[in-house]
Amino acid sequence: MAISRRDFLSGAAVTLGAVSLRTPMWALAAQNAAASPVPLLLGVDYYPDQTPDSLWEEDARMMADFGITNVRVAEFAWALMEPSEGKFDFAWLQRSIEILQRHKIAVILGTPSAAPPPWLTAKYPEVVMVNAQDLPLHPGGRRFTCPSNKTYRRLSLAVATQMAQTFADASGVIGWQIDNEFTLSDTPRCFCNFCRAGFQDWLREKYGSLEKLNQDWGTVFWSQKYTDFSQIPVPLLSGGDPNPGLALDYDRYQSYANVSFMEEQLTMLRQKCPRQFITTNNVGLVDYINERDLYAKLDFVAFDNYPGFFKMLMEEQPNPEGSSWNAILTMVAMGHDFGRSLKAGKPFMIMEEQSGKAGQRTFSPQPEKGHLRLWTYQAVAHGAMGVNYFRWDTATFGAEEYWHGILNHDRSPSPGFEEIRQTIKELKALGRDVLESQYVAEAAVVFDYDSSWALPIQPGHPKLSYLPQVVKWYGTLSPSQTGIDISVPGADLSPYKIVVAPLPYVMSDAQAQKIRDFVHNGGTFVAGFRLGAKNEFSQIVRTPLPGLLRDVMGVTVEDYVPLYSEKPGVKLSGFSGAPDGTCGLWAEVLKPSTAQVLATYTNFQHAGKPAITRNSFGKGKAIYIGPDLDPMSLARVLRTLAASAGVQAPMEVPLGVEMTIRQAGGKRWMFLMNHKSDAQTVKLATPGTDLLTGKARSGEIELSGYGVQVLQMS
Ligand code: GLA
Ligand code: ZN
Repeated sequence: MAISRRDFLSGAAVTLGAVSLRTPMWALAAQNAAASPVPLLLGVDYYPDQTPDSLWEEDARMMADFGITNVRVAEFAWALMEPSEGKFDFAWLQRSIEILQRHKIAVILGTPSAAPPPWLTAKYPEVVMVNAQDLPLHPGGRRFTCPSNKTYRRLSLAVATQMAQTFADASGVIGWQIDNEFTLSDTPRCFCNFCRAGFQDWLREKYGSLEKLNQDWGTVFWSQKYTDFSQIPVPLLSGGDPNPGLALDYDRYQSYANVSFMEEQLTMLRQKCPRQFITTNNVGLVDYINERDLYAKLDFVAFDNYPGFFKMLMEEQPNPEGSSWNAILTMVAMGHDFGRSLKAGKPFMIMEEQSGKAGQRTFSPQPEKGHLRLWTYQAVAHGAMGVNYFRWDTATFGAEEYWHGILNHDRSPSPGFEEIRQTIKELKALGRDVLESQYVAEAAVVFDYDSSWALPIQPGHPKLSYLPQVVKWYGTLSPSQTGIDISVPGADLSPYKIVVAPLPYVMSDAQAQKIRDFVHNGGTFVAGFRLGAKNEFSQIVRTPLPGLLRDVMGVTVEDYVPLYSEKPGVKLSGFSGAPDGTCGLWAEVLKPSTAQVLATYTNFQHAGKPAITRNSFGKGKAIYIGPDLDPMSLARVLRTLAASAGVQAPMEVPLGVEMTIRQAGGKRWMFLMNHKSDAQTVKLATPGTDLLTGKARSGEIELSGYGVQVLQMS
């Protein structure tokens, strides 16, 4: 059950306000930056399809002057590339690419299936999506077509194939972006009859027999036993909630439908354009589509990053708690860590970076001086190897007239023009070694799509949702000075010293085994409430909770309590000097079998009973946090556990300063970023060389407001 992008981000933003600051950490992994034909990807998103061709030469000259290496084009140009069905016209695009190439600007081509031309929806009206209210969407916007619809898939593949045939050997074209931001709209799910048929096929494939499906979903409940796959509905309005197994599988199917839609174009591009890289763009921390599946076969992850837009969403909140710099510092950093983790630490690209005021109907103010540079460096500091700014000029027509670019509406330089030009110049100077170096994490936060999809079906508490809890845990763990990966259930956990899993609601045997092995081999695993309550078919486990991991955690759950008026306290006796904490939305009362008690409840029907426990299992530790702890207490608990898991801080930094380290070939680079407007002093633990000025640095250094320093540490 998805919500709109704006609601999603603003929901997470509120949670963050409360958490205290992060002081980051280490990084390292080996991936050499072998010489590649692809230039450093420092560019802009450019729209020759929306620009009079009389300006193309001037644009190319100005962009070359500006220092960019590439442009992304054509992802919304279907109507120009195929004016009528089967009639293709790429002459305009070829001319534009030739001009760009003459100015040594490489091109990333976008396939246009995110927005079909009017002739297509006029001739094939059935390609539009049907929303959760069983209402068809209408042409006129974008991202309104059904991912299962075979006609739409055929037409999307046809235009992409024509593009590939035309540009496969165009030396100016270095890569492809398939479609644009899959599922990122106010209607990320389709409930049409094509999806119903696709869902039934997908279920037949997954379960093999109706008997297994009926068993795994528990369809005897409310007399829903299916005797033919064609009877299975999509989860639209019905007198009563859908079967949880069906609803969870439908989220999985919709993610699969979009990924397989993308992979149809990917397979074709791999065959026709072996010399060119292939990716797609999306944003981190949204759960409309399983991005691990989305990027699994692509060359690298490409994300879009608009911190100012997010800042605006933060400040739109009725009573935004805490400060937006902290929210940006943490939320945006987490998005980057997610992007990097999707392909096991491989450097990612920012395909769209904010370059001015951002928004559609309502928009954010011009970012303050220094912000655009700071936000760009934050992405690079977390593992980005390339950044394209959105967009070169500012559209004077269409739904995004107020999403400002590097040139103003009158094509004069925008307020951020010089700052971005300077940033590109600096990143070029940093060079491939730094931009393609690795960022290693000693800790991981588990982000699980199944739990994120299963929880909204039965949250247990109206205010309980998955992402805000994940953001809270990430935001509170980071001050323990460790690089953080966003891991997936079932992934190899051995690289980490500590793995934390907020709201691990759905647990499969395979996932439980990975966690058991990790702890047994010496890792520290920290689980939040609702651990393993559901199996992978969204049935409640028939054993005492936490189900599959009872042995590892050394406890059972005596009671799970959604909290409304009751506000229990938590005595953190196992965390020396920690003041008592409070509970938010939920409290689980634990019954230790082998585990020791680290905290107990106070002023609660279960006062005096265990709230947090720690179990020794094999060579490792497993900690169960039963209460929905207040952010400050959660921060104390997670940082203490991270430290006892051997996570070491490279050095302390003041509030508002973010620090990361990237490494390659024995070299280490420290990124220091000041997210506050006033200058900050940082005491270096070890001397280094300022890569931007070449000056040696040691002892105390000054970071100006929104200032950035990149130091070579060895
Ligand atoms: C997204 C889309 C772009 C554009 C920008 C600005 O990230 O990919 O097409 O809409 O945002 O809104
Ligand atoms: Zn559909």
